[in-house]
Amino acid sequence: MNLTGLDDVTVAETRLSDVDGERGELLVAGHTLDSMADWDYESAYRLLLGEAPDLGQLREKAYLALKPCFALLQAAPSPLEGLRLGLACLPESCTEYELVGAFPVLLGAVYRGDTLPPPDSAASHGEDLLKLMFGKRPSLDSVRALNTYLVTVCEHGMNASTFAARVVASTGATPLAATLAALGALSGPLHGGAPGPVLDLLDEMAGCPSPAQALEEKVRKGQRLMGFGHRIYRTRDPRADVLKQAVRALDQTTDLQLAEKVEAAALEVLRAAKPDRVLDTNVEFYTAVLLNALGFERSWFTPLFAAGRILGWMAHYKEQRETGRLLRPKSRYVGPRPQTESERVSHEV
Ligand code: ACO
Repeated sequence: MNLTGLDDVTVAETRLSDVDGERGELLVAGHTLDSMADWDYESAYRLLLGEAPDLGQLREKAYLALKPCFALLQAAPSPLEGLRLGLACLPESCTEYELVGAFPVLLGAVYRGDTLPPPDSAASHGEDLLKLMFGKRPSLDSVRALNTYLVTVCEHGMNASTFAARVVASTGATPLAATLAALGALSGPLHGGAPGPVLDLLDEMAGCPSPAQALEEKVRKGQRLMGFGHRIYRTRDPRADVLKQAVRALDQTTDLQLAEKVEAAALEVLRAAKPDRVLDTNVEFYTAVLLNALGFERSWFTPLFAAGRILGWMAHYKEQRETGRLLRPKSRYVGPRPQTESERVSHEV
């Protein structure tokens, strides 16, 4: 067992999702990911949190709570820092449901500050997120694509950010505290911070005469190709295909053609460089292409991931609290110990 990465360690029983890394399948509370590709976020919300307050009303509540902070949030150095600040501006008493409902408003406030209009509680969660960010009614295709994205990333087993949320939940801390911990874990480039760098890679490859050669050079230098590899999947990440279909539906042919070309070259390079390890396309690769096609800047990709994954975090929060048991693993001490009397004597001699 690889102790350093907790590989193959099972830390909880869950009803929320099953990630089958060998077969490349994701089951969310009894539903295959493929069967959820056309769902709106509300359906996933009800699936994972059961009988729950209306998301539209929760967006309105978040708007009122956050309004005094809008200018402050817009002044944050980056969207992710703005999101973290926005969460910290919410009352500690926020429920799991209120936190899910708050995300479109949080993102809109960071983007638009005091000019943010009130949410439209009659719109779907995905549609309202686009309206709050871009200030105009989005096309049906964009709404569909964003919903597919939010649902695709809403829940995924015991990933690093969900584990962080469950550890905090197990201490009896609030859903808000768990969300802040999870967001911190998500921000790292080995987890949710990858799609920005994926787009950097695609931009770099767009002007490159031989992507295969350039990618080979990167891997030879020990760099990781962003958007490839996964701790659990030993085959293709099923979420990558769902998102690729969503990009296709948006009719962004040029972006898709470049992405497919770079993907094919990267897979070949990785197969040759790491023959003993299956390194295939992960969710972040087509996330980058999809969110870019929807008009989001790359610095917004991780906050948008959080806007989808908040649902999984909160469902795990609830599940963890049901067990009532503090998560407290052990470590194996390998540091120095005080010398024994006989060791001291032998050193002196
Ligand atoms: N590019 C090049 N080499 C890679 C890549 C990659 N994307 N991923 C893994 N490898 C190599 C490692 O360098 C290592 O090589 P070595 O044995 O010669 O040292 C070998 O493959 C095994 O790597 P591990 O570190 O054991 O793989 P791990 O399971 O820890 O990594 C991870 C999974 C972190 C996702 C990794 O594949 C990676 O860094 N990918 C790029 C970043 C990325 O796309 N992150 C998003 C993941 S999806 C998500 O979190 C939502």
